[in-house]
Amino acid sequence: MPQELTLPLPDDFHIHLRQGKDLANYANSAELQFGRVLAMPNTEPPINSPESVKKYKEEILAAAPSLEVLLTFKLNKNYEEQELLAMQKNGAVAAKYYPLGVTTNSQDGISKIEDMYPTIALMEKLNLVLCLHGEEPGAFCLDREKDFLKHLEKICKNFPKLRVVLEHVSSAEAVECVKNLPPNVAATVTVHHLILTLNDIVGDSLRPQNFCKPLPKLPKDKEAVRTAVFSGNKKFFLGTDSAPHSLEKKECLCGAAGVYSAPVAIPILIEEFEKENKLDLLSDFLSVFGSDFYQIPRQTKKVVYIKEKWQVPSTIDGAVPLRAGETLEWQRKIDV
Ligand code: NCD
Ligand code: ZN
Repeated sequence: MPQELTLPLPDDFHIHLRQGKDLANYANSAELQFGRVLAMPNTEPPINSPESVKKYKEEILAAAPSLEVLLTFKLNKNYEEQELLAMQKNGAVAAKYYPLGVTTNSQDGISKIEDMYPTIALMEKLNLVLCLHGEEPGAFCLDREKDFLKHLEKICKNFPKLRVVLEHVSSAEAVECVKNLPPNVAATVTVHHLILTLNDIVGDSLRPQNFCKPLPKLPKDKEAVRTAVFSGNKKFFLGTDSAPHSLEKKECLCGAAGVYSAPVAIPILIEEFEKENKLDLLSDFLSVFGSDFYQIPRQTKKVVYIKEKWQVPSTIDGAVPLRAGETLEWQRKIDV
């Protein structure tokens, strides 16, 4: 068993860094783990203009200067071509589509994806990626992703050249669907959907820190996600969906959805890949498949992880991280 592991500095193609006073902490935590991140736009107010894209990038970089930041904007209205070009110029590589009301800050989401087709057509022309939160509003909670797949298939049919990412894939049906669609359709995979099922949220005690959208589902769904990743399928790459909320916002009458995984994501992934005897596939999942899909250069910097136990703190930056209080095997070696 290796005691040291050299990996490319990881990319995270789906992270929530929030805004205001929280942003600095969350951006710092991300900077300790990742070289490059794709920052989600569901802030309040949302990132949905050339100015807000520019300002958000500057704010993130002010807090975490060594982080390479790729931006998204919210697809919650139709944009003119000039606006899309300006957002692209300011660092946006993708638009994020949230259906109405399905997750944190999606009260301005869309009820009918066809309404966005004029913008989606322009995105195809400009080579912007479409990131989908793939859940059907109003469906039974465990069926929401499955019921969304018809929209994904329709988009792919109507916009054959558009690059599309089904974010945080969590069900056997969605894994199968993405596998069967052409190479311009991929999926991000979170750490929590690789290790959790519904049991870890409500099976024994209620565990709000594991509550997120889309819900971790049945054992067969977790297995489907694991099989896709551990088979080295290049359509599936890391997007942690690390989504911190303060303890007070998670543990109250109407708790917020989101798992704070950034500080523990890579150590957990190393453990999981090691368990499956697939450590040789980890670099591709962390740093090759995603950058190739996004058509950006592969990461050249390396980092070293050492096998040395540590206990995950009960809170980090005011939020309860994934696996809080538990012992993890691996940690990043700090350069001295
Ligand atoms: C995310 C958040 O808190 O911003 N929550 C979540 O449960 N994943 C939003 C999202 O990606 O759905
Ligand atoms: Zn997210």
